[in-house]
Amino acid sequence: MTPLSHIRNFSIVAHIDHGKSTLADRLIQSTNTVAERDMKAQMLDSMDIERERGITIKANTVRIDYTAKNGESYVLNLIDTPGHVDFAYEVSRSMRAVEGSLLVVDSTQGVEAQTLANVYHALDADHEIVPIFNKIDLPASDVSRVAQQVEDVIGLDASGAIAVSAKTGEGIMETLEAIVHHLPAPKGDPDAPLKAMLVDSWYDSYLGVIVLVRIIDGKLKKGERIRFLSNDTVHGVDRIGVFRPEMTPVDELGPGEIGFLTASIKQVRDTRVGDTITHHKSEVEALPGFKPAQPVVFCGLFPVDSALFEDLREAIDKLALNDASFSFEMESSAALGFGFRCGFLGLLHLEVIRDRIEREYDIDLITTAPSVIYHVHQKDGTKIDLHNPADMPDMTLVDHIEEPRITATILVPDEYLGEVLKLCQDRRGIQEDLTYAGSRALVVYDLPLNEVVFDFYDRLKSVTKGYASFDYTLKDYREDNLVKMSVLVNDEPVDALSMMVHRDRAETRGRAMVEKLKDLIPRHMFKIPIQAAIGGKVIARETLSAMRKDVTAKCYGGDASRKRKLLDKQKAGKKKMRQFGKVDIPQEAFISALKMDS
Ligand code: GTP
Repeated sequence: MTPLSHIRNFSIVAHIDHGKSTLADRLIQSTNTVAERDMKAQMLDSMDIERERGITIKANTVRIDYTAKNGESYVLNLIDTPGHVDFAYEVSRSMRAVEGSLLVVDSTQGVEAQTLANVYHALDADHEIVPIFNKIDLPASDVSRVAQQVEDVIGLDASGAIAVSAKTGEGIMETLEAIVHHLPAPKGDPDAPLKAMLVDSWYDSYLGVIVLVRIIDGKLKKGERIRFLSNDTVHGVDRIGVFRPEMTPVDELGPGEIGFLTASIKQVRDTRVGDTITHHKSEVEALPGFKPAQPVVFCGLFPVDSALFEDLREAIDKLALNDASFSFEMESSAALGFGFRCGFLGLLHLEVIRDRIEREYDIDLITTAPSVIYHVHQKDGTKIDLHNPADMPDMTLVDHIEEPRITATILVPDEYLGEVLKLCQDRRGIQEDLTYAGSRALVVYDLPLNEVVFDFYDRLKSVTKGYASFDYTLKDYREDNLVKMSVLVNDEPVDALSMMVHRDRAETRGRAMVEKLKDLIPRHMFKIPIQAAIGGKVIARETLSAMRKDVTAKCYGGDASRKRKLLDKQKAGKKKMRQFGKVDIPQEAFISALKMDS
């Protein structure tokens, strides 16, 4: 057990791509935590998708032994936190497990919206913060400008900041010394009853669920029986250890230490991030701030090939074992057959799960429009949590509908401000604040979540040429004039295309949608009406004219081989289509038709 005075626990706060993982790798390497030959690029980002996209999804941890310039040996525990707004709760818990943060800012870029969001988490957790200005090897690096920005925008003293190149290793030794001398040692009582925080958990096919814990008080040993407070379950501990970064067994974990335990737990669902762990018979007070994972964005996942439904069920079951925040239930749609209605923490989470199903399980998917949860208050006084617009009750039964709103923070260079304000205004935003930090504007908007989940971020990136950064927190539920818009193709409703919209915008949205569908649905031998409707009232209509029978022969002048090629191509395309009534609708139509053009 390491004495408290010689432990430092910290996390790294950064915006995507500012160099968090590279810095972590360099800290690990320069302390010989990992032998040079085993050093893979980005030790800490272990999932394939994480490595491919360069983003961190799960919290990872490493214990570093460091002998400081004063000759003393320290144990440094680094928790690498997820870097995306979808995982804000996980970030807040990881932050509670440590006492300090390194704030990494790319000195060629400056402070971004996500940096701000994560710094606020760190400040909430009472962290000491050491600013690190990274990428000083690049010619565009401007440390004094970024220092000024950190002081102006965050209000943090940047005089103790360290200039670093995580690439060349410059400034790494100074960073290690700053961790030892500027970050506080943890506190805790080794003789008190065991109290530990469940920081994260994941499934391992050999060991079962691995639980990352931070010991607050007391000691944890192998063989002991422990209890999770949130669900009152008891488990026998089979293993305890630390990450170096590979799993290394230890005899015990004491106050201030961060390590793992395994206890033959079969499902990640049984281990909840932020939960309190104690000994079987001990009574301790639960740690504050615990909340069970709550999905916020819902969509339907359907196999393109309906014969793969059982395979999809298996894939989803397996993924859910390892992801407590992902929820699902079976759904059947007249248009798409059998599939699953799934709940996610946010859009990135949705994309990650969808990608994994398509890649790891080789199942092509149709994803229906992401939707948020609406509170539908009915005239009889009952309330429905509406996850799927297809389940919307008849409007005559509805008293009013509430929708979730968010507080969005956007940082954008001055010249794009006009575009950003227009975008937020078009999405029913209410401006709450507008301030300047140098030549960049910091805009705060109150926006409906449903206007953001679909393609807000893509639009924001395109109107600002990628220079804006964006972050949000959920705010509250508020009433608005919302209606369900249905889409009819060849006079039959396609429930996977129905969506909730604001009454004032329904016509514009409806018109844009039918126009898009007209372009996306191939011509058939008959005329196809495409309509958008609210209740029984059609608000927009297009007609796809019939294909003339001799069209292929005419176009290709009777050339048989070109005609066959064309038919083959059409056949291949058919695989990506779903037949609905008599009409083939291509897979891409389900997503593209719902994109909003503003
Ligand atoms: P997330 O995991 O998405 O949060 O990103 P990150 O903050 O971990 O960024 P990462 O370490 O993946 O670095 C992003 C890119 O910047 C990579 O291509 C790195 O090689 C590069 N990079 C990181 N540090 C430096 C540096 O000091 N100098 C230069 N030139 N490039 C760097």
